[in-house]
Amino acid sequence: MAVIRSVIRGVGAHLPKRVVTNDDMTKIVDTSDEWIRERTGIRQRYIAGENEYTSDLGTAAAKQALVRAGIDPVDIDLVICATATPDRTFPATAVRIQQQLGITHGAAFDVQAVCSGFVFAMTVADNFLKTGQFKRAVVIGAETFSRILDWQDRTTCVLFGDGAGAVVLEAQPQVGGRQDRGILATRIRSDGRFEDLLYVDGGPGSTKTTGHLRMNGREVFRHAVQKISGVIEETLVMTGFAANEIDLFVPHQANQRILDGIAKKLGVDPGKIVMTLDKHGNTSAASIPLALNEALEQHRLKEGSLVLMEAMGGGFTWGAVLARW
Ligand code: UT7
Repeated sequence: MAVIRSVIRGVGAHLPKRVVTNDDMTKIVDTSDEWIRERTGIRQRYIAGENEYTSDLGTAAAKQALVRAGIDPVDIDLVICATATPDRTFPATAVRIQQQLGITHGAAFDVQAVCSGFVFAMTVADNFLKTGQFKRAVVIGAETFSRILDWQDRTTCVLFGDGAGAVVLEAQPQVGGRQDRGILATRIRSDGRFEDLLYVDGGPGSTKTTGHLRMNGREVFRHAVQKISGVIEETLVMTGFAANEIDLFVPHQANQRILDGIAKKLGVDPGKIVMTLDKHGNTSAASIPLALNEALEQHRLKEGSLVLMEAMGGGFTWGAVLARW
């Protein structure tokens, strides 16, 4: 039976110019390159300039994705930005990006699911495209986490970085079979009982300040492997694919050891996992589209590739997207 699917037409990314290495971090807090590398896999991260905002990173990524898709911005009717670090409390960063792309029709809004933001935003866009309400979407993950870090807290400030990535989705008819291109399944979850394990201790409606990121890393780690493996398994059951049929795993980049644990639990070949953690650190909602971009540029992502994306973040929120390129 013919179905409408959200086909991924283009990918783009943008990173700030400034690179901060682990050795640079030792001048800021009591840490070492060895500790950061061994515990996380991170070697460096990019940090946005003073006047470089989430919307600037997101716009640059979206422009590259549109050029690669060969689609004119005026043909886009939906812009969704996944971010936990908006330029302003309101309006949405997506509206700024929409404006910077020269789009004045359709709708633009942000999705806030922290590190799971890109998976949530893809899910929202997919549902709008499948129902026919919109035809072409730009989905962006963009963050300037450096702005919400406590630069005196070594347990968190060494982990995160800034950046943006974007994809262009287009509603296209497909036959409704295993070889269909586009998003084949999405699964998103949240559970607010875990709010205090990963949060920002400020906000316009409470402290009237921006606040700083706080995390009980050990506890988050404990939940991550189990929760992420769960949604991956559910996504595979929904579509009838086996884990060994996946061509490329493009996970949220939080910790090398979490990804190794998931690969082991699901029996996934570690060679199929796209890792960018060493270069980018944890860029929250931007990490998956940044990794997609890297896979594309390394010719690991080809038309027909079966790609699994997954993430977990504050909330907790977590989810997975299975797509054929
Ligand atoms: O993207 C959102 C989701 N987030 C995540 O998935 C993060 C999940 N958690 C993690 O990735 C890991 O828990 C961390 C990388 C955050 C921490 O690794 P860990 O192996 O869980 O370390 P720990 O928190 O248990 O700390 C071990 C030791 C502590 O010292 P003591 O108490 O054993 O003496 C820390 O004080 O490491 C110390 N430590 C550091 N030492 C040097 C913590 N941060 C640092 C640091 N440099 N930056």
